[in-house]
Amino acid sequence: MRAKVSIIGAGNTGATTAHWLAELAIADLVLIDIVEGLAQGKALDLQQAMPVLGRDIKIRGGTEYELTAGSDVIVITAGLPRKPGMSRDDLLAANAEIVRQAALNTLRYSPEAIYIVLTNPLDVMTYLVMKVTGLAPHRVFGQAGILDSTRMATFVAEELGVSVENVHCYVLGGHGDEMVPLTAISNVAGVPLNQILPQEKLEAIVERTRKGGGEIVSLLKVGSAYYAPGIAVAKMVEAVLRDRHLIAPVSAYLRGEYGLHDLYFGVPAQLGRSGVEKVIEYPLTESEKEALKRSAASVAENIAKLKF
Ligand code: NAI
Ligand code: 2OP
Repeated sequence: MRAKVSIIGAGNTGATTAHWLAELAIADLVLIDIVEGLAQGKALDLQQAMPVLGRDIKIRGGTEYELTAGSDVIVITAGLPRKPGMSRDDLLAANAEIVRQAALNTLRYSPEAIYIVLTNPLDVMTYLVMKVTGLAPHRVFGQAGILDSTRMATFVAEELGVSVENVHCYVLGGHGDEMVPLTAISNVAGVPLNQILPQEKLEAIVERTRKGGGEIVSLLKVGSAYYAPGIAVAKMVEAVLRDRHLIAPVSAYLRGEYGLHDLYFGVPAQLGRSGVEKVIEYPLTESEKEALKRSAASVAENIAKLKF
């Protein structure tokens, strides 16, 4: 039997995640949105693209959570995106209520599902989903690090004029402007980035990566990025459904790793059919450790604002 993935929120990121997943054809898809007709219309449109691709998956959409019954993976994208000048943290109050409802409504119909959260502020919303569902933390994780890392890799590949396939970048920490792009572990064909790029170029890439989401928000003027976030989520869904044991930067629950406790935070983690199989601890420089601490303090401060 084919797997089933339900995506809550059929806006830019939800629909684009569905698009990338439909191309992979690894699961039947359901889109849910609060706006009448939106999820249904997008699902129908995407379904009608499948004969061109020769894909036999089923794609459905609507407002009713019954449609999601028996899902293997639930992706939560429902919520407000940023407007120019807003930080991700400005979304906290409004999105917490939306995410709480999405989590509880889906849990009733898919008690065995793995949850992947995208809604911002990401690390805080992922923590909220784990708490309100009461699921084991390994079954709930968030997307941020694959996106932030692919942004960094894009900038490095362009700067050096090399194939993106040769560039391996790792961005850890909270999904905010204090995220921590690693410059010694990130590498080009095995050579550490900080040995290839001059300091000022490296600093410029680190800064552009940190502000990568905001750069797109100010260009789009309405809404935020969705193509790269969508493929990042699709990659995580694929890692789960195909039990790939894929190591990728994700927002995972920490119990002492990196010296941090009881928060969701961007770290390298191994993903498989049961969700987060383990958190990997990279050797970090002292300044990277300090930067992670600052980023964690900012995530913890926002988690403390949550009401359960
Ligand atoms: P969007 O506005 O295009 O779509 C959000 C959708 O959620 C809308 O269609 C809206 O009707 C729906 N929605 C709102 N309340 C709902 C509810 N109670 N139940 C079901 N659906 C509901 O926004 P977009 O671009 O898809 O972004 C969604 C969220 O993802 C935002 O919070 C954004 O900041 C975040 N995001 C996070 C990224 C990450 O890397 N973690 C990357 C990109 C976006
Ligand atoms: C991004 O980084 C808005 O979090 C989203 O593009």
